[in-house]
Amino acid sequence: MTPDHVAIYPGSFDPITNGHVDLVKRTLRVFGKVIVAIATNPDKDHSLFTVEERLQMINEVFADVKDRVQADSFQGLLVDYAERKHSTVVIRGLRAISDFEYEFQMAMMNHRLKPQLETLFMMTGESEFYTSSRLVKEVVSLGGNVAGLVPDNVLKKLKQKFKR
Ligand code: PNS
Repeated sequence: MTPDHVAIYPGSFDPITNGHVDLVKRTLRVFGKVIVAIATNPDKDHSLFTVEERLQMINEVFADVKDRVQADSFQGLLVDYAERKHSTVVIRGLRAISDFEYEFQMAMMNHRLKPQLETLFMMTGESEFYTSSRLVKEVVSLGGNVAGLVPDNVLKKLKQKFKR
């Protein structure tokens, strides 16, 4: 364990899923703190949940480890945000092979922008292998059940959004 190290876990988290939660918990076995950092871009924001709603859901999920998990949001480049947070580690989850190209491009670009920043990949747990925020939203919007794929507070919020 590297207790002094803060790892940044960036993403859209629209909304946070159990796949994300699993990744944060496993990251805590290696790093002392994790910042779950919501990237925002007001010019191309097609999010279902506002940043405030997403922050609140994340804070609720990690209430029992709030001294070690912080929810935050940022605008602009991830590499600049990491520098402001004095972090040199970015965590990303890998699900299927299809994630690889997108993740590889981002990691390479971030490395080019800031070589001191390392991107560490963690495999998503098998039960979350096929979960994504996008699919979860689609399934709920069409009346499907995603219980077990997202935290209970998120499930409640999703149902409210789609009036299910
Ligand atoms: O959950 P997502 O949408 O796959 O996460 C993508 C995210 C937020 C990690 C990526 O879009 C990002 O880092 N955005 C911040 C802006 C930035 O640094 N862009 C250049 C990335 S190479």
